[in-house]
Amino acid sequence: RILILDFGSQVTQLIARRVRESGVYCEIWPFTTDPARIKAFAPRGIILSGGPASVNGPDAPRIPEIVFDMAVPVLGICYGQQALCKQLGGEVESGDHREFGRAFVDIVEDCALFRGAWARGGREQVWMSHGDRVTAMPPGFRTVAVSEGAPFAVIADEGRRLYGVQFHPEVVHTPHGAALLRNFTHNVAGCSGTWTMAGFREMEIARIREQVGKGHVICGLSGGVDSSVAAVLIHEAIGEQLTCIFVDHGMLRAGEAEEVVSTFQGQFNIRLVHRDASDIFLSALDGVTDPEIKRKTIGRLFVEVFEEEATKLGGAQFLAQGTLYPDVIESVSFTGGPSVTIKSHHNVGGLPERMNMKLVEPLRELFKDEVRDLGRELGIPENIVGRHPFPGPGLSIRIPGAITREKLDLLRKVDTVFLEEIRAAGLYDAIWQAFAVLLPVRTVGVMGDGRTYDQACALRAVTSTDGMTADVYPFDMGFLNRVAGRIVNEVRGINRVTYDITSKPPGTIEWE
Ligand code: XMP
Repeated sequence: RILILDFGSQVTQLIARRVRESGVYCEIWPFTTDPARIKAFAPRGIILSGGPASVNGPDAPRIPEIVFDMAVPVLGICYGQQALCKQLGGEVESGDHREFGRAFVDIVEDCALFRGAWARGGREQVWMSHGDRVTAMPPGFRTVAVSEGAPFAVIADEGRRLYGVQFHPEVVHTPHGAALLRNFTHNVAGCSGTWTMAGFREMEIARIREQVGKGHVICGLSGGVDSSVAAVLIHEAIGEQLTCIFVDHGMLRAGEAEEVVSTFQGQFNIRLVHRDASDIFLSALDGVTDPEIKRKTIGRLFVEVFEEEATKLGGAQFLAQGTLYPDVIESVSFTGGPSVTIKSHHNVGGLPERMNMKLVEPLRELFKDEVRDLGRELGIPENIVGRHPFPGPGLSIRIPGAITREKLDLLRKVDTVFLEEIRAAGLYDAIWQAFAVLLPVRTVGVMGDGRTYDQACALRAVTSTDGMTADVYPFDMGFLNRVAGRIVNEVRGINRVTYDITSKPPGTIEWE
């Protein structure tokens, strides 16, 4: 396995993605990690990420000495390369010369990193993003690729198996970057590339069995990708020792609750408690218009209802959660200070402490795409594995103003038509998330010869890779006309349709 030491780059996670795609297991740890822990991890190779600091700055992050003591292959990327040079006796210049974006490097020598991908004498496109640059190599190194802005674009000390690249091989804008990383992990570090989802499934099942023993596990199931995959995996490991609790807050989309029950109880034979708690949630939300109060009310009630059901089951020692790797990576932060709360996200945080349970988190080493692959490996249907994200507070945050059963029904109908059309047009997988919002306004319209005075709705569809930023999906007008026509004709009570064309930022994906 490979260790990635993080120096705070925005794209460190991409290094891990590329390494894992080549079948090699890796983890990301901060550069400040205790050296004993690094040694105990026993990586076959170490990758040093980029980062925003300058190696010549006063508190410049340093590569822990243990990295050199272990004598394993090291690849420094951008800041990682500069730190490598500086600490091994080279020189780095902080200058006005900044280089951002697309650049070309010329390959001047053969190198183990280039095997089968880059040839001597060739020119390769790469993606640069740096202010500092290496100006003198440490003893033992030679230059194997150069660019105009970076005379030491790739440097290598093949004796000690130390490598440095000035650009970012992990991003897609470096077309052959993945091959370079693969050469490092496979050819230089000698990893075999046998880490697959099938292998992960076997390993994780054994791990769950060992952790749980004869104990009982409860798992909150929402129908979303993460909890679904966690539940099916745990069920495969311990069968009847797992019980899933599905708290139905009454604000799910059309047909969703039935689908959860038929898939997990029907198809997978998982013990499932389906608690219809819509009365409790809707009466607590009666008249509530403030988005944060909606979110907090739902979060609190969810925990209460879940706890009530868990208590009825009696005596489970373990709580399963679909925690993913991005939630557990210890991040390197140079900004400090708390960030502002834009929205309080609804999750089951706090439950394990309250209920005094141990956690089972079988997905905590996986990225979202890997969870989807694992789900497919486990035979979970595509409509669940490939589904768009859906927020914990459900449709409540897509109805600005007070929530009623009537409004929920109206919104479900609009949402269904919109998604039907998206699927029919073959666009579902190209979109990160698509949904409808019921607007708290009535507007005048004309249908046939009559005047209407009904509600307006908004449609939203965005593309994104992680939900942190998002672009509006550029539907063609023909598609939007068709959807709007169907909604106004088929959903009684709606006479106007708008399309939300706000990206994130400045908008958020959900309206509340
Ligand atoms: P925003 O609206 O903040 O949403 O741009 C980013 C992503 O997060 C989802 N979302 C939530 N997911 N609980 C969740 O599990 C929540 O409370 C929640 N609020 C927003 C949202 O749907 C989008 O994918």
